Amino acid sequence: MSRVFSGIQPTGEPHIGNLFGAMFNYVKLGEQYGKNALYCIVDLHAPTNPLAYDKAALTQRTYEMALANLAVGLDPEKVIFFVQSQVREHSELSWLFTVQTPLGELERMTQYKDKADKLESIPSGLLMYPVLMAADILLYKADTVPVGEDQVQHIELTREIARRFNHTFGETFPEPKAVLTKEALRVPGVDGHGKMSKSKGPSSTIGVLEDFGSIWQKLRVAPTDPARVRRTDPGNPDICLIFDYHKLFSDLPTIEMVNVECRRAGIGCIDCKKALLPGIERILSPIQDRAAELAKDPDRVRAALHSGAEQARAIAAPVMEEVRSKMGFMPE
Ligand code: TYM
Repeated sequence: MSRVFSGIQPTGEPHIGNLFGAMFNYVKLGEQYGKNALYCIVDLHAPTNPLAYDKAALTQRTYEMALANLAVGLDPEKVIFFVQSQVREHSELSWLFTVQTPLGELERMTQYKDKADKLESIPSGLLMYPVLMAADILLYKADTVPVGEDQVQHIELTREIARRFNHTFGETFPEPKAVLTKEALRVPGVDGHGKMSKSKGPSSTIGVLEDFGSIWQKLRVAPTDPARVRRTDPGNPDICLIFDYHKLFSDLPTIEMVNVECRRAGIGCIDCKKALLPGIERILSPIQDRAAELAKDPDRVRAALHSGAEQARAIAAPVMEEVRSKMGFMPE
């Protein structure tokens, strides 16, 4: 039986990279897999990065991330939707994988290297981060993991961890594969500095729940093709992040128009940015409206998460028992 698992960190507002790279896929796969689709707000990952972790804000951000996913269309009646720290087995399996994972495999992870470079003192949890990720997925014996491209290396490590465990203790886990969204592998940040990322802060992101006035302020000053100095210079949409956004938000005639007109200097960058707004409103407005509706009843959101954690535990508990027994721990 095939099973889906994915996780999203509550380290900041969800952005359009999360939305197109992963969250829309959660909903789509959720419709196919029903209760065999598990989605998790991975709050235990949040404290691994001291630059992004904020104790005072963690509960609220966890709630907001849940709300955003529900607003995008996750149905907690149909899928299993829960908070990682409420299912203790994640931590336990993570430890049992940690003791088996060679340090060298973790030190090679590019996300670890990028984050560790910015820190004076590196918490070991930052290095172990992908082991916890592997535990998240394998705790449910999931084989299908919808993610953005930045997580692919972590999924490969998960496969390696599953393979090693199966080899040492007998066939137990599937080797999961990443499911990517072709058009949104790596949505660029609106500041022009690489991938859009929660941890880079609001100057990099367009929030799923962000006010349209604020979105426009960011788009207005966003960098475009640097070779296009004057309005009359032809531009190259292939290297312009605004064109990347058009491909996500705009209808085909608009994408085609922008593509042609930019190349022959028929449209200026500001007009090209303005042409993005109807598409942004078309996609984000209904999500923002649903979020406002859901926010009126926070207890309902919390109750859905509570029930999700119970359902997740029911799958996790027998898997943990199997793992403990295979590893030779004394039964209770
Ligand atoms: P996180 O919280 O950084 O991001 C959530 C999801 O959004 C994707 N994503 C993007 N996709 C395209 N373009 C972007 N600019 C962009 N930014 C983020 C991410 O790839 C991710 O799918 N380690 C994970 C959370 C996690 C997890 C797991 C995922 C923990 N355990 C188990 C899958 C399975 C993370 O930090 O995602």
